[in-house]
Amino acid sequence: MAKSKQKNARAHAAGAPPEPPLPPEFKTLAVDDEPAPPKRRATAESMATRQRDISVSEFFTKNRHLLGFDNPAKALLTTVKEAVDNSLDACEEAGILPELYVEIRETSAAQLAQVKPGAGKGGKGGKASEAEAAVGPGPASRFRVIVEDNGPGIVKAQIPKIFAKLLYGSKFHRLKQSRGQQGIGISAAGLYGQLTTGKPVLITSKTGKGRPAFQIQLRIDTKHNQPDVVGDTTVEWPKEHGTRVEIELVAAYRGGRTGVQEYLEQTVVANPHLALTYVNPKGERAEFPRVTSELPREAQEIKPHPHGVELGMLHTMLSDSEGKTVKQVLVDDFSRISPAVAAEVCRIAKMNVSTPAEKVVGDDLERLHKALGLVKVMAPSATAVVPIGESLLIAGLKRRYQKAEFYISMTRPPSVYRGNPFVVEAGLAFGGDLPVDEPADIMRFANRVPLQYQPKACAISESVYLTNWRGYEVQQPKGGLPVAPMAIAVHLASVWVPFTSEAKEAVAHYDELLREMKLAVQECGRKLAAHIRARAHLERDAKRRSMFEKYIPEVAQSISDILGVPKDKAEQSFYAALPNFVRFTDEGPANGGNGGGGAPPGAAAAKTPAAKTLAAKPAPDPTPPPPIKGKPKARAGKRGEQLSLTE
Ligand SMILES: Nc1ncnc2c1ncn2[C@@H]1O[C@H](COP(=O)(O)OP(=O)(O)OP(=O)(O)O)[C@@H](O)[C@H]1O
Ligand SMILES: [Mg+2]
Repeated sequence: MAKSKQKNARAHAAGAPPEPPLPPEFKTLAVDDEPAPPKRRATAESMATRQRDISVSEFFTKNRHLLGFDNPAKALLTTVKEAVDNSLDACEEAGILPELYVEIRETSAAQLAQVKPGAGKGGKGGKASEAEAAVGPGPASRFRVIVEDNGPGIVKAQIPKIFAKLLYGSKFHRLKQSRGQQGIGISAAGLYGQLTTGKPVLITSKTGKGRPAFQIQLRIDTKHNQPDVVGDTTVEWPKEHGTRVEIELVAAYRGGRTGVQEYLEQTVVANPHLALTYVNPKGERAEFPRVTSELPREAQEIKPHPHGVELGMLHTMLSDSEGKTVKQVLVDDFSRISPAVAAEVCRIAKMNVSTPAEKVVGDDLERLHKALGLVKVMAPSATAVVPIGESLLIAGLKRRYQKAEFYISMTRPPSVYRGNPFVVEAGLAFGGDLPVDEPADIMRFANRVPLQYQPKACAISESVYLTNWRGYEVQQPKGGLPVAPMAIAVHLASVWVPFTSEAKEAVAHYDELLREMKLAVQECGRKLAAHIRARAHLERDAKRRSMFEKYIPEVAQSISDILGVPKDKAEQSFYAALPNFVRFTDEGPANGGNGGGGAPPGAAAAKTPAAKTLAAKPAPDPTPPPPIKGKPKARAGKRGEQLSLTE
């Protein structure tokens, strides 16, 4: 209080009015008051009693949104997606042409009440039911998801761990292009089903002709992240081999861009070798026969590339090496490191080649990591990535957009980001029955899997937004998507897709990836522009020609009357002279080289008995690829360089 009086006196001396005294209720906030010593709420010992392990299942039970189960509609999509992706991976790995059956059956017609946040409070025990809490807000009902494949099947002893233990799988510890990579997908779907319906997951699997088919019911013991087998029988199954997964869950069935139907339709675009049957909750059956019997080339597994390895990863590799020297680890466990290169790395790191690997820690480890980034090595092998391919991507687009007028695709040469090889390809369907005044349909694929959520966070959508479509004869509102009768597919194939989250919804913005995506999209744009211009020429010529043709009979008649020559002869002479006034060619308009694009409407209209198909010469491409600002050209031998697929 004494200090406060002094302060007031100083302010008064300076001519300012004195501060009024604080009202009693603010008295405790006065800055000059001595703070009361904080009351101890917990001690280190009392906190220690609460500190314990968290099982990964418990963690994801609470954080299911991280895995794509944050609302009922998304939960249904994620469940179907995880099972379908696994089936496709398994079939391809076994060299089997995939034949999939997907069914979504509504098991309880009665809709759960619209679950509002906090609904159920004041009910039994004053808590929301577990299902309500698990599903979140929104209308939901109960569905059974069934996905059956003709893959290699699963060994009986492995079934419980695969479907009822999170972080268990065959793909996490390798660098190989596949749809799955984390070892969490299908067990997370089973966990969500169990949480919302209490029903176990039902798996049927058979590994070969003459072998028994096992049917196993599983729950997850979330406390210990361990499978709990609740049923185990042998059944008659006419299939030679394959797996059938059945999961019951509380979910919502939606159409539109983020629905299951859209996911499956996009899946057939990126997987032309897939034969799919889909039965929706209304019992409607859709068949998608395969358009090629060619399986994608098998992706090669590769070892980590020295330019991509992170410090922590290097440390783990060295400490797990069991008696090897640094040189041996470098040669055996990395790709592209020969004994000579390993010696060079050790020289740069000022380290003896025969130092025991597990002893490399601290400064030595940092020097070694730096040296790995500096040494010149070949880029990773491009055989590790398998693009869809230009003609098959077009076949996929034709399967979905059957009545488009023009199709084009392009596959970029392989490149590298963070030491991981990748390939980008883009495809485009244009015209026909595609809607004219709507923004183009964008399909994003990562390792042949459609990505339907988080478009704004995804590098793939950005590559489409950043392309100047107006330069390609297509309207584009500022900063928006092109508005045209058009569908664009962009596919990223890589040994490791850098997703922005565990839900695998969007691709991260690595410069190298974005650059390649933009180049692929721009190349399609250029071919599209050539087609649009050729079509415009064609239409103009068709108009001109029809005008001539309209008057030829009349003029021929007049000449016949005046000169006394037969009318037919006069007409024939006019038709013979027609090419001097209108261009004729046997070819359709530019189809971009591999597009297999149908002739535009003008071509059909131009056909006449007297003339060959009328078409304009393909217009030269006047729009060179727009330069990418701020990006230096990749040089051979550096990160981001382009590789040969035949390496
Ligand atoms: N239908 C199937 N046929 C054969 N094997 C399968 C099938 N489904 C799953 N698997 C095996 O089970 C493992 C675990 O599958 P899960 O979906 O949980 O993880 P993942 O596919 O490895 O990675 P991600 O979490 O990214 O999907 C797979 O790695 C695969 O070996
Ligand atoms: Mg998976």
